Amino acid sequence: MCGNNMSAPLPAIVPAARKATAAVIFLHGLGDTGHGWAEAMAGIRTPHVKYICPHAPVMPVSLNMNMAMPSWFDIIGLSPDAEEDETGIKKAAESIKALIDQEVKNGIPSHRIVLGGFSQGGALSLYTALTTHQKLAGVVALSCWLPLRNSLSKSVIGSNKEIAILQCHGEADPLVPLIFGCLTVEKLKTMLNPNNITFKTYARMPHSASAMFVTTFFF
Ligand SMILES: *[C@@H]1O[C@H](CO)[C@@H](O)[C@H](O)[C@H]1NC(C)=O
Ligand SMILES: *[C@@H]1O[C@H](CO)[C@@H](O)[C@H](O)[C@H]1NC(C)=O
Repeated sequence: MCGNNMSAPLPAIVPAARKATAAVIFLHGLGDTGHGWAEAMAGIRTPHVKYICPHAPVMPVSLNMNMAMPSWFDIIGLSPDAEEDETGIKKAAESIKALIDQEVKNGIPSHRIVLGGFSQGGALSLYTALTTHQKLAGVVALSCWLPLRNSLSKSVIGSNKEIAILQCHGEADPLVPLIFGCLTVEKLKTMLNPNNITFKTYARMPHSASAMFVTTFFF
C-alpha cells in the first residue's frame, strides 16, 4: 500500500543540561505517547542525563475491539494465561534495541542507559532487557508484567544477569492487578540475581505512576 508507513514519529527528547553521559529510555503505556512522560522527565532533569521517550506505532488492538491506538504490540487479553502477540513483542523489542544502539553511537555507553516503562511499556522494557546483548544500567518497570514469561529462563538472558531492576506497582491497580507484579518479580528472581531486584508496592495507588523514581534510583 502506497504511503503506509507504520513507523512512529521521532521520540520526545529531553536533552541533558550538560554533556550527556547517561540516558533514560522510557516507554509509555497503551494508548499514550511519549510527550507526557518527557514533560515529567523534564521536571526531574539531572544535568548529565538525556531522557528519550519514544512513541509507539499506531495499530489495531484486539483487547480494545481492534480500535487503532499507540501500542508497542497487540494485547489480546489481560489475564496471565491470555494469548500473547509473540511476533509483535519480539519486533517491538528489536526496535528498542535499535534505539539503544543509536544512543551508543551518540557516545553514551549502553551500561549508562536505563530502560524503563509504564504498563505495556514497562512490560516491553523488561522483555528487551532480558533478551538483549547490550549491557544496560538498569530497568525501571512500573505497573507492568513480564511478556512471554514461559519462553524466558536463566539460559536465554543476554548480558544482563546482574542488572538492577526497580519494579513498582500500585496495590489498588484495577487494570494490571498487583498479583501480576508479584508473579513477575518471582519469575525475575529465578532468572536474575535476586539481590539486584527491588519491588515496591504502594497502598491505595491505582494504575498510575510517578516519573520521580526513574533517575534517582540509578544515577
Ligand atoms: C518510514 O518513514 C521513516 C521516517 O520518515 C523512514 O526512515 C522509513 O524509511 C520509512 N519506511 C518505509 C517502509 O517507507
Ligand atoms: C548485584 O548484586 C551483587 C551482589 O549480589 C552486586 O555485587 C552487584 O554489584 C549488583 N549489581 C548491580 C547492577 O547492582
